[in-house]
Amino acid sequence: MTYIVTDRCINCKYTDCVEVCPVDCFYEHELMLVINPEECIDCGVCVPECPIDAIKEESFNLIEWIEINKNLSEESPNITKQKDPLINADKYKDEEGKYEKYISKVR
Ligand code: SF4
Ligand code: F3S
Repeated sequence: MTYIVTDRCINCKYTDCVEVCPVDCFYEHELMLVINPEECIDCGVCVPECPIDAIKEESFNLIEWIEINKNLSEESPNITKQKDPLINADKYKDEEGKYEKYISKVR
């Protein structure tokens, strides 16, 4: 089992989540953070830290997102310290379908 970051994080990256992870398993893609599913110990403490509810527990509905977190974490640097969110985070935080609009097109 793992937790995963979903597309709500895209264009936002509030980064509160990274401060509490006991195993430092968040990775920073240009547009979003992801969790390495092989490193996550399923503790759940990051979930309430995200102000926009972007982190979810693994579930059947989110299988695609486990793969996305795995792939992006393998090509992105580790992040362990909170930093400023992306400049237009508040504008994008409630937008739907962000993966299709902003990430799948460039992959
Ligand atoms: Fe880290 Fe725990 Fe969140 Fe997994 S569930 S990413 S181990 S804080
Ligand atoms: Fe993203 Fe929420 Fe963390 S917006 S960076 S998952 S605090």
